[in-house]
Formats: sequence, structure tokens, C-alpha cells
Amino acid sequence: MSWFLVFLSSVLVVCGANRCPCQRPELCRPIREERDFEVFVFDVGGKTWKSYNWSMVTTVAMFGKYDAELMCYAHSKRARVVLKGDVHISYIVDQQNRTAWITERVKLAKSQFMDGINIDIEQAVEEGSPEYYALTDLVKETTEAFHREMPGSQVSFDVAWSPKCIDKRCYDYVTIAESCDLLFVMSYDEQSQIMGDCIAMANAPVSQTLDAYDQYLNLKIDPKKLVMGVPWYGYDYPCLNLSQEGICSIPKVPFRGAPCSDAAGKQKTYKWIMKQVNSSLSGRMWDSKQQAPYFNYKDQQGQIHQVWYDDPQSICPKANSVKSKGLRGIGMWNGNILDYGDETVARQQTAMMWNALLGC
Ligand SMILES: *[C@@H]1O[C@H](CO)[C@@H](O)[C@H](O)[C@H]1NC(C)=O
Ligand SMILES: *[C@@H]1O[C@H](CO)[C@@H](O)[C@H](O)[C@H]1NC(C)=O
Ligand SMILES: *[C@@H]1O[C@H](CO)[C@@H](O)[C@H](O)[C@H]1NC(C)=O
Ligand SMILES: *[C@@H]1O[C@H](CO)[C@@H](O)[C@H](O)[C@H]1NC(C)=O
Repeated sequence: MSWFLVFLSSVLVVCGANRCPCQRPELCRPIREERDFEVFVFDVGGKTWKSYNWSMVTTVAMFGKYDAELMCYAHSKRARVVLKGDVHISYIVDQQNRTAWITERVKLAKSQFMDGINIDIEQAVEEGSPEYYALTDLVKETTEAFHREMPGSQVSFDVAWSPKCIDKRCYDYVTIAESCDLLFVMSYDEQSQIMGDCIAMANAPVSQTLDAYDQYLNLKIDPKKLVMGVPWYGYDYPCLNLSQEGICSIPKVPFRGAPCSDAAGKQKTYKWIMKQVNSSLSGRMWDSKQQAPYFNYKDQQGQIHQVWYDDPQSICPKANSVKSKGLRGIGMWNGNILDYGDETVARQQTAMMWNALLGC
């Protein structure tokens, strides 16, 4: 061995490139085993993860800043921690660029003692385009690299609520599903392309949500590759007009070919919604067609708003069908946005949202 290499390796040891940050070194060991039922949590940062119901969490996708404490804690609960993977698709059409990106992600995941990667690419792609094939290859090559370099690691890919070119995301869903460990189906933002009346509607209406799983399954995608994503947030729409029947017409904000979209509203956390609903004009109401709760309120400027959201009652039938359709599991965007404070009501509401994930 050359003196240079000896020097280099001692530098690496001294600099502690791969030093385990956990109190117990064994907590840096990767999680390899599969669990029957996935509960896949997106964490966007902060410390509220300390209050998650860890008896059910199986995977945490770290979308905030890297948090070594969270990694150690998750491992102590036998839960995986996975990296976020996002890249401009146009950059990875080039094979060398793609390989470089994958190599760098594997290295980062390893150095941070993580257990896989969640690929979150929500860009528009035309069927049959160079980007279409590059994306499919990216998922395949990323999975191969992770499985080779980190045996037992998990590679997941986020897909829209339906495979029908939602938001112009026309991907090769079948090959992508075959190429990775699981698809996280984002069953929310379902009003991102409103083609009919420009009105406020549910973020994730129950029958529309469930029909879309049948679309995935009809493509012969293995149900054990699908994790259902439910929203722990809702949409707050300013109403141009609130009709006698309670229909809230919303400003026209086009999105990817549709004249109207949920971009006319603002996303609000379940924590905010629970604070707002009791003091609202209407109180909690229930739309039996969409199977979703909503309410109307007036802001300080006198503007009327309509808020659509999900709660245990709307999540329950979705979670039940995860079981009846034999899916891999369930998850949410995102874990941090419940009220993890000390008040009794908040505690109860938060526990009920977690428990709703397992059905009712
Ligand atoms: C490679 O990726 C970089 C960004 O990481 C980008 O600027 C560059 O254009 C890409 N090269 C090719 C040939 O696509
Ligand atoms: C607004 O709502 C009122 C009451 O329901 C209705 O009579 C009216 O036609 C609506 N106006 C518009 C512009 O939709
Ligand atoms: C809101 O009202 C519901 C139903 O009346 C009640 O159970 C809940 O405790 C109230 N929430 C708060 C924060 O006061
Ligand atoms: C956490 O989830 C388990 C089910 O895995 C449930 O039995 C338990 O009651 C939950 N804990 C709390 C505090 O709600």
C-alpha cells in the first residue's frame, strides 16, 4: 500500500467521515427486515417526531434537514429512515449524469446511516419522451444501486393519486412499480386540475380516491407495492360567492392545462383546522357525496372562506380499503402537522388521527 493511501485512510478515520452519532453504536446499523404493514411517514423537520405513535411507524422519509437524533430514535423503534431524492428530469436524461446522481445519493444515505431513499419527482413528463425513459431508468438504476450497496434498503417512488397523467405526469407507472420496492400514492391534491365548475371541493374525496387504486391495480401493479398516502392537511378557499346551497365559487387559477385548481386555496394543517372549526360560521359539516368534512368561516376582513379537510371519519373508509384491497400500507403528508401540544382535546384528536390509519 502506498504511503499516500495509508495517509488518506487515517485522515478519513480521524475526520470521522462515518462516525456513528447515536449513543448506542448498534443504532447506526441499517434496518433490513420487512414488516407486514407499512406506516410511511413524511417528516418535514422540527422535533414533533418525538410524539409520533412509534408503535406503528415503519418508515420515516426525512424531508427536512438531516436529523441524526431522529435517525437514532427511529432505529431504536425498528423503523427505517430514508433520504429524499429529487432531481430535474432533464438533467438525468444523460446516462453519466444519472449515474453520478445515484452514486452521490447512495454515498449520502450510507454516510448518514439511512435505510433507503424516497424519490419524489412531480414534474410533467410526456409519454414516450426522452425524459419518460430516463425517469424509468432512474428508478431502476437507483433501486439496483441501493440494493447492491445497502442490502435490505428500501427504494420508494411517489406517484399522483391516479395513473391517468395527473398534472401531466405521464410516467411509465407499470415499469416504475416493478423496478422499485413500493409506490407511495399521493391520494391528495385531487383538485389540482378542476375541469368542471370552479368551486371548492374535497382534497381527497373518498370514492374518487378509491377508484384510482383500482386504476393502479387494473394495470396489474402488485397491491403489495402500493402505500396509500392520506392528507393531514386541508385547503382553505376564499369564496367569490357562497351560494344558498353552500357552494363556494373560487377564483380561477389555472394549472397544467386546467382552468381552475386548488392553487386558489391555501394548504392548512390539521392543527390549524381543529383550532378554527369550532369558532367558524357553520361548524363542522359533512358532505355525504365526497365523504369529507368542511366548514365556512369569515376572516377579519369579512371575506368568507370554505375549508375542506380530512379527519378520522373521512380517513377511516380509506384506511379500511387499504386492508380490503390488500395494499402494502398507509402513510401521510405529513407527520408533523397534528397538534402535539399538551391540551387534552389536542391529545385526543392527535391520537385519533394516528389510530385512523389502521382503519376502524
Ligand atoms: C448534468 O447535470 C447538471 C446539473 O447537475 C446540469 O447542469 C447539466 O446540464 C447536466 N448535463 C447534461 C448533459 O444533461
Ligand atoms: C351568488 O349566490 C347567490 C345566492 O345563492 C346567487 O343568487 C347568485 O346568483 C350567486 N352569484 C354568482 C355570481 O354566482
Ligand atoms: C370543538 O367542539 C367539539 C364538539 O362540540 C368538542 O368535542 C371539542 O372539544 C371542541 N374543541 C375545542 C378545541 O374546544
Ligand atoms: C399507538 O398505536 C397503537 C397501535 O399500533 C395503539 O394501540 C395505541 O393506542 C396508540 N397509542 C396512542 C397513544 O394512541
